[in-house]
Amino acid sequence: MKPDFFKQIDRIRELPTLPAIVFKVNQMLQNLETTADQLSRVIETDQAMAVKILKLVNSSFYGFQSKISSINSAVLILGFNTIQHAVVSLSVMKSFSLKKNLKRLNIQDFWHHSLAVAIISKYLADHADKTLSSDCFTAGLLHDIGKLILAEYFPEEFEKIWLRAVESGISFVDAEKMENDVNHAEIGAYLAEKWLLPQPLVDAIRYHHSAFSSDHLASAIINVADLLVNTCQPNPEGRFEQPPGLLDVPAFLQPQLQTLPEWYPRLQGEIASACQVFMEPRN
Ligand SMILES: [Fe+2]
Ligand SMILES: [Fe+2]
Repeated sequence: MKPDFFKQIDRIRELPTLPAIVFKVNQMLQNLETTADQLSRVIETDQAMAVKILKLVNSSFYGFQSKISSINSAVLILGFNTIQHAVVSLSVMKSFSLKKNLKRLNIQDFWHHSLAVAIISKYLADHADKTLSSDCFTAGLLHDIGKLILAEYFPEEFEKIWLRAVESGISFVDAEKMENDVNHAEIGAYLAEKWLLPQPLVDAIRYHHSAFSSDHLASAIINVADLLVNTCQPNPEGRFEQPPGLLDVPAFLQPQLQTLPEWYPRLQGEIASACQVFMEPRN
């Protein structure tokens, strides 16, 4: 792949776009004076989005006892950040059609993996650094979108990398290093930047396969969650153990890794319920 790869991306006319509401909400949250009332009114202008958010907050995913019936209450209960991330997540998933048939990439499996990484990342952040929780959920959900761009718009490149990974028994990202000048993490970050998503999300996507750096804690969390989702399978007795490949985990995540058999199986139910809400067929 040529170094002018990003120019090629820019030339793709039908590159997925995000609805205006995402930009509006992001813009509003940069203004410290924005009120819950103002934010709710903007979300309510997009009926489909408002319905989806109410479904999401009332699902077992958030686990509230009483029913939340208005966007205003959803904003007050969940907070601005979580609502912003819900708007971004739902919009991005919608912009990539769930029904699309891509060679070598099953889109349902792709989003299932992404939701699993999102939920595990959020759990790790909740217990390691709560300020990163909502960024980690959304960044976990979007971490591999660069793969979708490759599979959809550069199918020959994708096929080459995929075959190299299968034939050599290596990971996709290692195969990319051999075949490509850029990898899916950089491509995803480039797209997130084009979409004007908040910088912490862009960075978390860009560095999710990079060596651990204390400047990018969210990326480290996503990296570990990704490894767990890809390698942590139940043993014949149905118990989850820490996978042997996870030795270089940064110190701030070690306590969670040590207690993995206690919490990891529990999150499998949460992943299934998130898949139901986020991936339900759209009309
Ligand atoms: Fe990745
Ligand atoms: Fe991944």
